[in-house]
Amino acid sequence: MKITVVGTGYVGLVTGTCLAETGNEVVCVDIDAAKVARMQAGEVPIYEPHLDVIFERNISAGRLTFTTSLQDGLDHGEIIFLALPTPEDEDGSADLSYVLGVAQEIGKYITSYKVIVDKSTVPVGTAEKVRETIAQHTSQAFDVVSNPEFLREGFAVDDFLKPERIVVGSSSERATALMEKLYKPFVRSGNPIIIMDEKSAELTKYASNSFLAAKITFMNEVANYCELVGADVDMVRRGMGTDSRIGKRFLFPGIGYGGSCFPKDVKALQKSGRDSGYDFKMLDAVIDINNDQKVKLIPKIEKYFNGDLSGKTIALWGLAFKPETDDIREAPSLYMIEALLKKGAKIVAFDPEAMDNVKAKYQDKISFASDMYGATDGADALVISTEWSIFRTPNFKKLSDNLKNKIIFDGRNLYDVNDMVNEGFRYISIGRRE
Ligand code: UGA
Repeated sequence: MKITVVGTGYVGLVTGTCLAETGNEVVCVDIDAAKVARMQAGEVPIYEPHLDVIFERNISAGRLTFTTSLQDGLDHGEIIFLALPTPEDEDGSADLSYVLGVAQEIGKYITSYKVIVDKSTVPVGTAEKVRETIAQHTSQAFDVVSNPEFLREGFAVDDFLKPERIVVGSSSERATALMEKLYKPFVRSGNPIIIMDEKSAELTKYASNSFLAAKITFMNEVANYCELVGADVDMVRRGMGTDSRIGKRFLFPGIGYGGSCFPKDVKALQKSGRDSGYDFKMLDAVIDINNDQKVKLIPKIEKYFNGDLSGKTIALWGLAFKPETDDIREAPSLYMIEALLKKGAKIVAFDPEAMDNVKAKYQDKISFASDMYGATDGADALVISTEWSIFRTPNFKKLSDNLKNKIIFDGRNLYDVNDMVNEGFRYISIGRRE
């Protein structure tokens, strides 16, 4: 099939590349000429495991091409994916100006039937707005469907190629048939393509992300309570997770959820609820608790140093909001950096992928080490903010030689508490005994 993807951010690029992988001819459109030139030269502009291999393969096969011309893109595809940014407005709502701007252009340019697919995470009612916007500029037949993505950063290729479900909001049989044909190769396992109305599809995305954020937040609260009463959240988590109604996943407490999706989507659902006269009280709590959780370790660090962090050097392992990504948006590490700097501490950070992004933000306010042990050399304490695999089995002997104090503050519960006692470390984590 002939596919066009407008917007080559994270979602657009993964969508375009993976759709080319099943034999479709995909044209990706972006207004950023420099980025398009880099992609045309075979360079993947983001870090995402396994994307590079299929990106190169499909470019070489001529199935994946890039252009800055929206008109050329629209001429090409029968299905046009909109994978455009929907940034958070100051009031928490999703800014639709990119999506509606392109919808206007689509209305001006299309000369044959097209299915316009909203892939971006957009509030309930957006498909309708896109439809109205296009229709203002053309009498050509077209359909608009909502097809939210459920890709996790770090696993996006796998999630796209083997989705647990595909949600399509469509009120047109013709569009539904085309979407089913397009996605059939991805659900050979029998996983469902769930067809529903556009509004329900739009809400499914927000409700899924908000539910997961709430699930994590609930466990963070349980962890905080465990600390007060001397229970072990790891045990509680295992005890709870074996109930299949609860499930084992997304029960890991820590220093809060971050990233480009959960924080933005929870706020957007809360805001769009209010706009429609519904108050999602639970989401208010989720947002509040998560803000506190991000700096949960700070008072513990302060207490250890008797309230005085000035001049103390903190080794910080992990900057990305989660492993396998260089993304630092809403990362708990940034909130910790701000708080530690404010209290006069010095920071030496290490992250396998995200250091350049943090350097761009903090320049010389913090230092960076070229490897994980380098960060701990002469540091007063080690703080862990992201659960990269490389941090899971460190050389504790080397660590204790490097650190001035044998103290680790772990925001991701990487180590067994008893093991740490045996290694001779004071180990302060989340929701477990010290
Ligand atoms: C999330 C969803 O998982 C995807 O399904 C969705 O498509 C995506 O948002 C999106 O809307 O685009 P992502 O933000 O990549 O994906 O990351 P997750 O792996 O879901 O993690 C989100 C945050 O929750 C991270 O900060 C992570 O550290 C935290 N988390 C996750 C926990 O604190 N505990 C857990 O048990 C799980």
